[in-house]
Amino acid sequence: MNQQAEPFLTEARERSSFKQVHVSRPHESAHLHVSGRATYTDDIPLVAGTLHAALGLSSKAHAKIVSMNLDAVRATPGVVAVFTAEDVPGVNECGPIIHDDPILADGLVQFVGQPIFLVVATSHDTARLAARRAQIDYEELPAVLTAQAARAAQQFVLPPMKLARGDASGAIAHAPHRAAGELTLGGQEQFYLEGQIAYAVPKDDDGMHVWCSTQHPTEMQHHVAHVLGLASHNVVVECRRMGGGFGGKESQSALFACCAALAAWKLLCPVKLRPDRDDDMMITGKRHDFHYAYEVGYADDGTIEGVSVDMTSRCGFSADLSGPVMTRAVCHFDNAYWLPDVSIEGYCGKTNTQSNTAFRGFGGPQGAFAIEYIVDNVARALKLDPLDVRRRNLYGKRERNVTPYGQPIEDNVIHELIDELEQTSDYRRRRAAVREFNARNAVLKKGIALTPVKFGIAFNVTHFNQAGALVHIYTDGSVLVNHGGTEMGQGLNTKVAQVVAHELGIRFERVRVTATDTSKVANTSATAASTGSDLNGKAAQDAARQLRDRLARFVATRFAMDESRAPDVVFADDGVSIGDVHLPFAEVVAKAYLARVQLWSDGFYATPKLHWDQAKLQGRPFYYYSYGAAVSEVVVDTLTGEMRVLRADVLHDVGASLNPALDIGQVEGGFIQGMGWLTTEELWWKGDGKLMTHAPSTYKIPTVNDCPPDLRVRLFENRNAEDSIHRSKAVGEPPLLLPFSVFFAIRDAVASVGEYEVNPQLNAPATAEEILKAVHAVRTARMAGQPS
Ligand code: MTE
Ligand code: MOS
Repeated sequence: MNQQAEPFLTEARERSSFKQVHVSRPHESAHLHVSGRATYTDDIPLVAGTLHAALGLSSKAHAKIVSMNLDAVRATPGVVAVFTAEDVPGVNECGPIIHDDPILADGLVQFVGQPIFLVVATSHDTARLAARRAQIDYEELPAVLTAQAARAAQQFVLPPMKLARGDASGAIAHAPHRAAGELTLGGQEQFYLEGQIAYAVPKDDDGMHVWCSTQHPTEMQHHVAHVLGLASHNVVVECRRMGGGFGGKESQSALFACCAALAAWKLLCPVKLRPDRDDDMMITGKRHDFHYAYEVGYADDGTIEGVSVDMTSRCGFSADLSGPVMTRAVCHFDNAYWLPDVSIEGYCGKTNTQSNTAFRGFGGPQGAFAIEYIVDNVARALKLDPLDVRRRNLYGKRERNVTPYGQPIEDNVIHELIDELEQTSDYRRRRAAVREFNARNAVLKKGIALTPVKFGIAFNVTHFNQAGALVHIYTDGSVLVNHGGTEMGQGLNTKVAQVVAHELGIRFERVRVTATDTSKVANTSATAASTGSDLNGKAAQDAARQLRDRLARFVATRFAMDESRAPDVVFADDGVSIGDVHLPFAEVVAKAYLARVQLWSDGFYATPKLHWDQAKLQGRPFYYYSYGAAVSEVVVDTLTGEMRVLRADVLHDVGASLNPALDIGQVEGGFIQGMGWLTTEELWWKGDGKLMTHAPSTYKIPTVNDCPPDLRVRLFENRNAEDSIHRSKAVGEPPLLLPFSVFFAIRDAVASVGEYEVNPQLNAPATAEEILKAVHAVRTARMAGQPS
């Protein structure tokens, strides 16, 4: 059945008040998470004879391998085998799009931490110890480490992207005011609590079963097949849950899946590969850091007349997902603003560092951050409240509503959302209070900011927007659901189970969602781009509706003696009714089985309306937009650079929420994660290219102490204008952009040091060091009497 076909039972069902969606319920595994009984890949009981693998890593950023002596590794007691690139039976490559990602380095190393060989031993510790005993001679080559250096060397992983509308340089030249500047924005480590891991078990007749912590089981299946020289049907990849992915397990789980499978294949033994945290951070890519150069022309009231931005990302040594990440950055430079004449250029710098990859927002945050900085500059230069300047530039509802990539915005709610938040957060009064506080205090300075978010939902690559599901009803009335999405803590399985329970009119507890498994639903997309519940929810709904329609026909025939009365059958309250006949769900199912009704079904969904021309960067890449806004108030210690968020108010649009409790959790988590990115999380590479911040001792993710003591998150009353699953909206990534408000509140506090006369240069992350630097620069400029 295709997803467009309207089920004939909707009307009868809506007569009942039964509902399993639009209600808060706990995460389906919450009781397991809190009691330590949730099984992650590392918790799977080991098959007898399981061996453990560890990776030997490059100590050079860019070098030829002249010679490699692995004798000491092999001689370590407990070591069973050592494998290098030469041992790969199939293809030694695991790039998700472009084939430039060797699994094990073959003669050339391109970053410090690149895997060169794989040690397999009887214990995890032995394998790790032995991996350090290699003697490798290198011939060093010049290394390029930063985005700017790559740009200077014209070294890119992909050709540049250019998107323009109108005449940006002309509009800037003719505008009453002009500004130009540069800015850097740091990267971010995903810091999933469960690290990368894969466990490969050889199966009968050239089969390979891989349990892997991954957002993309299908892609892992394909990579493992290629590495081993097998067909896809020989390989099964399974993932019940991840302890977080955040984009870091979209493509980069491949190296671990492939290495575990390679060793298992060669030795015909089960092999587990679980790098420790430091190795994980040394090996895997992170959020792309960006460098921007911008120019803007604007009117007296702050209206932007022309703007251009030139963005360069640090991609690392290979393309990985850098292309799609830059595309999303380009498509989110507008954020919530109408930019009449605009020029956006994106350059993907190739560097001798980890290959950067997906991270919550997937380039969207990097694109939107730049325009927010520019708008903030404009407001500060004009001495206007940045909120007023932001408002003036927002997309209109019927005019000034087409994005630079040609998609008209048809569901804009940002005006009313900001109005509401301005009121409920008491923004104006608190802004005045902040100014008063600053007039009275010399050392502690406060700042406040309100920033909006508009985020496009769908994969830019149209064909990824499809999903499948499989629903079984057993004769006891219990239901088993499988779908192509993966559970990483976000609550996807809970939402999908709610959708199925709702369609069948049954209690949530009747539904169990099983591990994602490539042998159940084939050719799935990554659970990414926040589309998990949009896609898999619809696919599961399709499957459940087919089952419901079959059961309805059966019930109408059996109990009303008239199949055409199927539309009158109501599925609600864990039972099935027609006229005066009410039957428990399990009884109907048992009877249907005896009547030989098929009690399982597949389901499929493909998002409608999408088209995208990647060469021209034009089309309708997104099905709809999610909106949000946040107000943050901070206090900065101008002697130490320390900062605290005192209060944050968030209003976020998830359409008609499938599960408000889970959605609020996503908004809170996204806010704190984004706040960490923009404030304390700093990645730092030494001059020789070694990442020095490769553990929580040096890389500072927010702790509970960093959370605003007063955090008020509310969901905006709305329904998706598009026919999404129960008119909900995606929630996974957009909230990551809400803490822009924290960053601009910090900038506001720093500006107060110069009586708001100097526009502070503040790069992200605004660490204590960066804040102190900015405070010092503002003071110096102020004393020199320099205007903004
Ligand atoms: N929430 C938790 N708890 N753990 C995660 O790893 N990943 C985020 C977001 N929320 C993540 C999360 C990212 S990067 C995405 S794309 C979405 O969840 C993916 O899930 P969804 O599409 O089902 O929202
Ligand atoms: Mo999320 S970055 O799309 O995995």
